[in-house]
Amino acid sequence: MVGVTWVDEISARADALLPDYVAAYFRGSAGGGECLREGLAAWEDLRLRPSVLHDTSTLRTEVEVLGTRVRTPVLVAPMAQQVAAQPEGEVLTGRAVAEHGSLLGLSTNTGVHFEDVAATGAPWWYQVYVMQDRSLTQRLVERATAAGARALTLTVDTTALAPALPGIEPTEWPDTYRKARVVNLTPEEVEASGPHGLRSAEDLTPDVIGWLRELSGLPVAVKGVLTARDARRCVDAGADAVIVSTHGGRRLGTSVTSAAALPEVVAEVGTEVEVHVDSGIRAGHHVVAALALGARAVHVGRPVMWGLASGGAEGVSAVLGRLNEELVTTLRQMGLGDVADLRPGDVTRRP
Ligand SMILES: Cc1cc2nc3c(=O)[nH]c(=O)nc-3n(C[C@H](O)[C@H](O)[C@H](O)COP(=O)(O)O)c2cc1C
Repeated sequence: MVGVTWVDEISARADALLPDYVAAYFRGSAGGGECLREGLAAWEDLRLRPSVLHDTSTLRTEVEVLGTRVRTPVLVAPMAQQVAAQPEGEVLTGRAVAEHGSLLGLSTNTGVHFEDVAATGAPWWYQVYVMQDRSLTQRLVERATAAGARALTLTVDTTALAPALPGIEPTEWPDTYRKARVVNLTPEEVEASGPHGLRSAEDLTPDVIGWLRELSGLPVAVKGVLTARDARRCVDAGADAVIVSTHGGRRLGTSVTSAAALPEVVAEVGTEVEVHVDSGIRAGHHVVAALALGARAVHVGRPVMWGLASGGAEGVSAVLGRLNEELVTTLRQMGLGDVADLRPGDVTRRP
């Protein structure tokens, strides 16, 4: 087992600064936390197979994600309630993302205006939770598109999130936090939507993918896919990417891990669309293993939130900087000069 890591140190600093209920919400996991623990261990259980006689005089980490070129395949996952980590929320996260040439996922449950996120200069994807009143989702998608979102991330794995996660709707949260979902809507729109309009829809089927593509003209990445069968259903319905994700172990305690699910999803749809992955990525060698298994990019969640909580934009920058340094070091140690050279054969399971 690994000892205390730099991520553990940052998370401890964040916990010490945050109210208990916020710290618990950030850390939270479903069930008995099996998927969270195993999701971290699954990346650690992979072993890399170094190679020789490749030109490593320059090391390349650039990739293209749904038409946007980024300097690093380490992207930032959409996370709600960043205003609970720092009042300026994603404005600070976005500044660090821009500095590192990465890409920001912006949650439906952001507490920040789209235009302020866009002003950070970071490329961003708008993460969609489809609401029971679909006209609200339509308004938000139209506004995010107008503000410059490069793609939509449709999150489809949260049917049971609220009951699974203690503290997700804590009654003691200040109003500003609970209003996160509505900050980019007008009070009239919220009023008109009725008592359940803002709740997430529970009747989603694959046709929602085409609806969002048509509405926005943007590519759609479907987040929360864990099986080849679902990946196929998403691609057949028009998805431009799938994101293999357990929601950071927050969906189902006894879920399969992202590292275990990634190969079958890549085998099913990897030649047709981009496959991305998140949940449990904490080190450069995890990024290398994920890319070798066929991921175009990885998305990092909690470490970024803990960086934000403990150090604002500088804290996020430290997290992204460290992960990118480790990525470059691991790539060099692998004997490879470009992330594009990684292949499934470069990874094996720990004996
Ligand atoms: C505090 C928190 C809030 C999150 N909010 C959202 C959200 O609003 N939308 C979404 O699609 N995923 C959300 N996620 C899931 C992340 O996008 C991502 O899948 C997960 O954090 C990755 O796992 P990791 O934290 O182990 O890196 C959230 C995760 C955390 C920890």
